[in-house]
Amino acid sequence: MTETPPAPKATAPNAIAAVSEARQWDRLMAMAKLGAFRGVDGSEGVNRACLTPLDREARRLLIGWATAIGLAPSIDALGNLFLRHEGTEPGLAPVLAGSHMDSQPAGGRFDGIWGVLAALEAVQALREAGIATRRPIEVVAWTNEEGGRFAPGCMGSMAYAGNSPADAWDAVVDGEGIRFGDALREHLAAEADLPRRPLGVVGGQAPHAYVECHIEQGPRLETEGQDIGIVTGIQGSRWFLVELLGASAHAGTAPLSLRKDAVQDMVRAIAALNALMDDPTDVLRFTVARIEVYPNSSNSVAERVRFTIDFRHPAAKVLLDRGGRIEPTIRAAVRHCAVTVTERFHALPVEFDPMVTEAVARAATAQGLRALRMPSGAFHDAQFMVPLCPSGMIFIPSRHGISHNPAEYSSPEQVAKGARVLAQVLAELADLAELAEG
Ligand code: GLV
Ligand code: MN
Ligand code: MN
Repeated sequence: MTETPPAPKATAPNAIAAVSEARQWDRLMAMAKLGAFRGVDGSEGVNRACLTPLDREARRLLIGWATAIGLAPSIDALGNLFLRHEGTEPGLAPVLAGSHMDSQPAGGRFDGIWGVLAALEAVQALREAGIATRRPIEVVAWTNEEGGRFAPGCMGSMAYAGNSPADAWDAVVDGEGIRFGDALREHLAAEADLPRRPLGVVGGQAPHAYVECHIEQGPRLETEGQDIGIVTGIQGSRWFLVELLGASAHAGTAPLSLRKDAVQDMVRAIAALNALMDDPTDVLRFTVARIEVYPNSSNSVAERVRFTIDFRHPAAKVLLDRGGRIEPTIRAAVRHCAVTVTERFHALPVEFDPMVTEAVARAATAQGLRALRMPSGAFHDAQFMVPLCPSGMIFIPSRHGISHNPAEYSSPEQVAKGARVLAQVLAELADLAELAEG
């Protein structure tokens, strides 16, 4: 049975007023310069892969802004970065708020980074309004949410939450053969001046709550004229890596009947998977989007192919049943190649806690904003915080629903509305100690 969450003790009108639309936007645009590139349509995107010099530069910029207002930085063994606003009772479990700073290879200016900057803006607004909270608030930037350079995504939050051991991905390599473990070690060495904290919950004390702001990355809020998405949960995702091993041969001489062509077997496998994943209700999501061919020469028959599968659904049963049929389907479809299928990400659907969703709903209503309850189709670090503490997310509209694309856009006003809701939610969850006069 779900308990009715308690009503908030107080609101934080001064903090809401102290959220600065201009400051938050300027910071977003400053971050967007780190990894800036132009998409084919001329729009300004971001390519800031995790644990690269650009990622470090972005973190340093964030640390500079945070320490200037008195937040205390620390970093854990996965490179997760925390910026702590102290509570009047520092021994209480903190409220965490944040997201990630890495981007897709051809990503936008808002995915991830806005959640971190919104948390900073909200905390800065609380402090500028002279508001103290009994609980500490920690702004967090999780390492490698996107999984674009090192797969899978959400490594930082998974390790923090104890979902996977810290060294689980050491041997994962990027497109240039660099191991995640080596990139992480190099990163931590470069950040050696930052205080280190243990990985995971500190002193056995789980956070009091976790809140993540994010752009919607889909069209619903815009289409339905809403300001805020009260995120009710996240659908499940499974990632697989498929490797097919055939034999290279001369394109001009090898008869088709004698070939072990890895590309042809990949085509057969994907056709069979498309049939397996057919869903007349159009709820299921199935994507093959990364393909590597060796030797990748137009006049050599392909010896090897590696391709990725991203499979998502809101129902655990569908994810487990159809996900379990992926490997047999591929094996039945290929004719000549040796097959290896490795699951690299397994995130079942989660539901968020009313303690957070209702706080978001109350804040949106109190601020006169139009809000819609909705699930998330994208995965987020919040997914892995669910077993640890009451968690939830705040969405804002994405123009035309576009994301993982340089054209991704939310307006200064929209991101400010999101940060104002977060400021009120943090004030409530971190337990307002006192309100400034006036
Ligand atoms: C997150 O980036 C996702 O792919 O859902
Ligand atoms: Mn994201
Ligand atoms: Mn993303």
